[in-house]
Amino acid sequence: FGRSLKIVEVTTSTQEEVRLLAEQGTPSGALVLAEEQTGGRGRQGRKWFSPPRKGVWMSLLLRPERPLSFAPQLTLLIAVAVCRAIRKTSGVDAGIKWPNDLLVQGKKVCGILVESVSEDERIRYCIAGIGIDVNVEAHELPADLQAVATSLKIESGRNQDRVALITAVMNELEDLYTLYEQEGFTPIKHLWEALSVTLGKRVAVKTPQGEISGVADALDESGALILLDDKGMPFPLFSGEVHLA
Ligand code: BTN
Repeated sequence: FGRSLKIVEVTTSTQEEVRLLAEQGTPSGALVLAEEQTGGRGRQGRKWFSPPRKGVWMSLLLRPERPLSFAPQLTLLIAVAVCRAIRKTSGVDAGIKWPNDLLVQGKKVCGILVESVSEDERIRYCIAGIGIDVNVEAHELPADLQAVATSLKIESGRNQDRVALITAVMNELEDLYTLYEQEGFTPIKHLWEALSVTLGKRVAVKTPQGEISGVADALDESGALILLDDKGMPFPLFSGEVHLA
């Protein structure tokens, strides 16, 4: 992964850069990095703050030959890879909030956006967007992010090497992807569980059926988060934004 690399100074969103490459037939593993994004996108239509040279704003093209139902597992695998890379290179104790936000002491340090394009229930390609707040200073965070976001520099007290971090992310991704291909989702699931800050906690989530709250009990084999409601009834969550209560 990342052996074909494009670095741009500024772009709207690296997701769009990779979408163009994908549609031109670029092989799996291509990576686009931007120093700055003017229209960085988050999940659920949110904006992603992407100031120049302060973070890792990148998107990876993947072409897994798998059914569409593989996408949630891939999302969790990427979260594990980035979490391990952050811990190894910066020493910052990041954990995973289901499905794939990385938090440090309750504040978000990294967001992951996996967009899948499919045909006849099979994946044509996935665009894995990874945004890591690396060297953003506390006073540089926009007012609305002050209470909810942090950076590796804020948490570690020193500037972090972005190249070392990107290299570590790619190495972890390759290792975990190989493990996944050899042994399936179970070992990835165990790694995810060990890094989770969600399991065992009370969480609330908005679903089309209304707000549900319960204790996050387990991850199932498909990647769904199993909540136990107040009566102890299991409720599988396939998507959505969970809030730690
Ligand atoms: C989220 O937590 O909501 C996901 C954020 C994903 C941000 C990254 S930065 C690189 C790539 N390009 C984008 O526009 N978004 C993703």
